[in-house]
Amino acid sequence: LANPQWGGRFATGPAAVMGEINASIGFDKRLWRQDIRGSLAHAAMLAKVGLLTTEEEAQIREGLLTIADEIEAGSFAFSTALEDIHMNIEARLSERIGEAGKRLHTARSRNDQVATDFRLWVRDAIDGLDGQIATLMTSLATRALEFHALPMPGFTHLQVAQPVTFGHHLLAYVEMLARDRGRLADARARLNECPLGSAALAGTSFPIDRRFTAAQLGFDRPTANSLDAVSDRDFALEYLSALSLLGMHLSRLSEEIVIWCSSPYNFIRLSDAFTTGSSIMPQKRNPDAAELVRAKIGRIGGDFIGLLMVMKGLPLAYAKDTQEDKEPVFDATEAATLSLAAMDGMVRDLTPHAARMREMAGAGFATATDLADWLVRVLRLPFRTAHHVTGRLVGMAEAKGCDLGELTLEEMRSVEPGIDASVFDVLTVEASLASRTSEGGTAPEAVRRAATLWLHALEGI
Ligand code: ARG
Repeated sequence: LANPQWGGRFATGPAAVMGEINASIGFDKRLWRQDIRGSLAHAAMLAKVGLLTTEEEAQIREGLLTIADEIEAGSFAFSTALEDIHMNIEARLSERIGEAGKRLHTARSRNDQVATDFRLWVRDAIDGLDGQIATLMTSLATRALEFHALPMPGFTHLQVAQPVTFGHHLLAYVEMLARDRGRLADARARLNECPLGSAALAGTSFPIDRRFTAAQLGFDRPTANSLDAVSDRDFALEYLSALSLLGMHLSRLSEEIVIWCSSPYNFIRLSDAFTTGSSIMPQKRNPDAAELVRAKIGRIGGDFIGLLMVMKGLPLAYAKDTQEDKEPVFDATEAATLSLAAMDGMVRDLTPHAARMREMAGAGFATATDLADWLVRVLRLPFRTAHHVTGRLVGMAEAKGCDLGELTLEEMRSVEPGIDASVFDVLTVEASLASRTSEGGTAPEAVRRAATLWLHALEGI
């Protein structure tokens, strides 16, 4: 049988495989709320300009709300033959209310309809993720305040570099996540234009009021060019690119969690709630959640590149290729949502092994830079010379099998005669941390202030 929505000029229906490749209902049913919202606004506009009677508009409104209830209740029968969510809902509307339902598609095409629905969906998704990111930032800042003074080794090249505090480390991720929120907000502001009224590609001859529909749906304005409006998926790509950076950040934090709770490091313990056991090795506590969040960027980045390749080379205006825009966006959204929730749980629950972190913060000659800085500040040595002197002292301590602070004053003086006993004051982890008072540095007092500022800012959300 030919399609009841567009089959007028067709003698037979599609081949089975044509139906299969053509249909998007299997995944675009997730747009049902947005589709009904869009149709309600469109119908209200049609009534406002006199293309529907008040009575017809009331029937349509009622019909659409009943359909929403049916879908919500799980009693709506989705049909693959009706291809997509738009025609499923429209066909059901006509079935329920007759003639008035058949008037709804006046001055509209599925091309501007789907572009509108999808923008609404992405906008809703951005709002949901924004709240989740803010929640994770709050958890990180809360833990950062708690551990603003807890020393841990800071690394470069994954080699012990200088002591930092655990709070400072956690706040680094708060900064990254703040940028992620900013990128999503930028994408949201740019996507917030309404394609409805662009019709198939050229606009329409009906006296529609696009500003009215745009306002009804919370858009800032109608899109400016009908060809662009029906074929543009930049908004989905911007969203996926912002999610890719978010996913990358979550992946980096996950990797650190995996490292921190590995036996040789033993910096933190994840709670039982976010750990799994081994079916053969009874002693194991595996950080599976962190590993899975670490991996999710594979999907999210793949979704971004996948849609980018779909859009590359598409001629104007609409082409069915863009139907392939939805699954990557849904998939990436699910991955990001789940990752944020799991990461938040891990961050809230984790326990640092404070003594172990403190011990490792001082290992590996982590205060060598403090010694070099002392030589510059007190003895006025040029930094390069101080670096060289310190290097020799590190070599001496290494050969002796002790820390820098355990060298005797005589040993130190054999390399640089100007050194006096006050040098030992800067060689402790605590002194090193307290001295890092430059803006954005790891001094515990500065970290406490930064965490407090973030918590205040996040409260205001
Ligand atoms: N299911 C289609 C999509 O997701 C709706 C638009 C179809 N438009 C058309 N001219 N065939 O893109």
